[in-house]
Amino acid sequence: MCLSLEHVEESRKPRVVVVDDQPQILELLRYMLLYSGNDVFSFSTATAALEAVERNQPDIILMDINMPEMSGFQLCEKIKQKPGLKETPVIFLSGMNNPEDKVHGFRAGAVDYITKPFQLDEVQARVSTHIRLARAEAQLRHQNEQLEQTVLLRTTELRMDIEERERVEARLAVQIEATQEALNYTIYALARAAESNDEDTGNHILRVGEFSGLIAEQIGLDDKLVQAVRVQSILHDVGKIHTHPDIFKKTGPLTDDEFARMKEHTFAGTMIIGNNEKLTIGRSIALTHHEKWDGSGYPYGLAGEQIPVEGRVTAIADVYDALRSPRPYKAAFDHATTYGIITEGDGRTIPGHFDPTVLRAFREKSAQFEETYERLKG
Ligand SMILES: [Fe+2]
Repeated sequence: MCLSLEHVEESRKPRVVVVDDQPQILELLRYMLLYSGNDVFSFSTATAALEAVERNQPDIILMDINMPEMSGFQLCEKIKQKPGLKETPVIFLSGMNNPEDKVHGFRAGAVDYITKPFQLDEVQARVSTHIRLARAEAQLRHQNEQLEQTVLLRTTELRMDIEERERVEARLAVQIEATQEALNYTIYALARAAESNDEDTGNHILRVGEFSGLIAEQIGLDDKLVQAVRVQSILHDVGKIHTHPDIFKKTGPLTDDEFARMKEHTFAGTMIIGNNEKLTIGRSIALTHHEKWDGSGYPYGLAGEQIPVEGRVTAIADVYDALRSPRPYKAAFDHATTYGIITEGDGRTIPGHFDPTVLRAFREKSAQFEETYERLKG
């Protein structure tokens, strides 16, 4: 049976192996070490000692250097190559007293070197010291291994926690996306329902959404706001469900009373959309998309940055699409004509109606406006 030093108790008698080809010295050491309370195993040849220590691991090995068939240096090196014996302390006992032999001994793996003739007390003191040291080191190694196992176990548990959290987050992301899609669909359905009262405007609401998104992105709004503007600007005219259909169908100019009723679609829109925090951008757009930068718009006559940015963005999108589309009171304009009216004015629409930053973004994104109109003209 091969005992591991890590698992022996300090109270067990130290197991000492002695190897020397001189019988008198072997006997002397055996008696002295037995007398000091050790279990002693003595061998006169290196080969016999090697076989024995492989079978039964000692706490320490004392060995002579000059021995027939195998020197102490060779025996020490062979012992140190055995995995179970690598940490077993070896002490050389030799009559050779020059420094080179001592260095050779330490290089072979010894922990100590005692020269002959020796004092028995000194030998016993060094043997005890090295056994205590080796046991302390073995204990330390054992604790380190336990610590490494604990760290490994905890790391595995943490990795499993992280993986579980990632799975939960992935499920949540899917649910959030599904909820957002459901909200977008509801917004679209609401906008479509409101359109049934208006003249046939085709994909007007979808195009205004796309145009507004283009401008919002171009002026550098953050991604979340760009997305909200793109989706919720389609609700800009949702209040028109309360406007009498005859007003939309009228080919001539509106009377003051008719225009006043038309303006009410802004307030009606805010009432329909309500106060849900997910629709605050849509509500703001419904209320302010007819305000003008120069203060000449409605319903409040707000000017400049008094108008929320989402209202300023949607205003230009709505005007562009209205100019491009046929209405009972006007024919459709092509892109170039519409571009000219918005950027240079035609008497009714003037550049001063628009936020200059938004107007610049329109000029920069003009080609995409044309492409989007063609794609969604339905
Ligand atoms: Fe409107």
